Amino acid sequence: MASKILPASFRAIRQRPCQINLHQWRFLTTSSRRTSDALQIHRDTPDNNANIPFKFNAINEKLIEEILKRYPPQYKKAAVMPILDLGQRQHGFTSISVMNEVARLLDMPPMRVYEVATFYTMYNRTPVGRFHLQVCTTTPCQLGGCGSDSIMKAIEDHLGIHPGHTTADGLFTFTEVECLGACVNAPMVQINDDYYEDLTPESTVALLKALQASAEQTGAAGGVAGLAGSNSKGMGSTSGADRGQDGKSEVSDISATKKYTAGGVNAPAPGPLSGRKTCENSAGLTNLTSEPWGTEAFRKDGEL
Ligand code: FES
Repeated sequence: MASKILPASFRAIRQRPCQINLHQWRFLTTSSRRTSDALQIHRDTPDNNANIPFKFNAINEKLIEEILKRYPPQYKKAAVMPILDLGQRQHGFTSISVMNEVARLLDMPPMRVYEVATFYTMYNRTPVGRFHLQVCTTTPCQLGGCGSDSIMKAIEDHLGIHPGHTTADGLFTFTEVECLGACVNAPMVQINDDYYEDLTPESTVALLKALQASAEQTGAAGGVAGLAGSNSKGMGSTSGADRGQDGKSEVSDISATKKYTAGGVNAPAPGPLSGRKTCENSAGLTNLTSEPWGTEAFRKDGEL
C-alpha cells in the first residue's frame, strides 16, 4: 500500500544510493518534444494589430449574405468558419482585424472567434507568401513513394528555407502539415488550394522552378500576399474555366505540358505528377481484366 501512496521520489530518498535499482525508474516520455512551427499567440506587429481597419469588399459582403441564409438567425455564429475563410482570402491572412470584423458581423465575443482561428491550422495567423507550400509528413506520405523526407529536403535545398519560414522575396512560405487526405498519392504537397501528388524530389524542384518562372513572367513575384494587400485568391481558388494552355515557358517538362493561368499566375496543373490520372494502379489493371460477362452467364432464360 505504501508503494501506492508514497511517490517514487520520496521512497528513493529514503533508500541508500546503493539500494536504488535504476531499472525501476520510469520516465513519462523518452522522445524529444517537437513544438509547432506556428505561434498561435497574438503579438501586435506593424502588419497585424487591431488599429488596421478591415472591411469585407462588396463581393464578399454578398457571399456573406448567402452564407448567413444557411443558418437560423439566432445561430448565425455557426457561420464563423466560412466567413473567417473569406476574410483570409481577401486580406491574405487571418489578422486580428479580420477576426474582430467577423466577431462584429456575427455578434460574437471576439475571444470566441480567436479560439476558432487559433485552433484550425488552415487559418494563417501571420502573412504567408504568394505560394503557401504545405508538405504532408504523416506516416503514409513519409513511407509512400520516395517519402516526404526527401521532398522536405528538396524544398529546403532549393529555396534555402525551413518549415515555418518565408523566402526573402515573399514568394514561398514553407509549412509542414499533417495528413491532407491524399495518402494514396503520397508524397504530396498542397500549394494554396491545390494538391500536387506523387512527388519526387526532381518533380518538386521542377514545380518550384515553374512557379518561380511563372510569377516572374506575370509580375506576381515579390511581396508577401497578405502584406501586399492583394486579393490573395491564390492560384488554386480559380475556377477551371480560367485554365488555359500557355506554351511560352520552357522551364521544365511539367510547365511545358501542364500549365494553366490562375489569378494572373501561370502554374502547372495540380494532380498527380507521375502520369497517373487520379489514384489508379500505376502498374495497370491487375483484376477485372476479362470481358464483362453477358446475361447468359446467369440465367439462360434471360430473366437475370
Ligand atoms: S498522409 Fe499525406 S496525405 Fe495522408
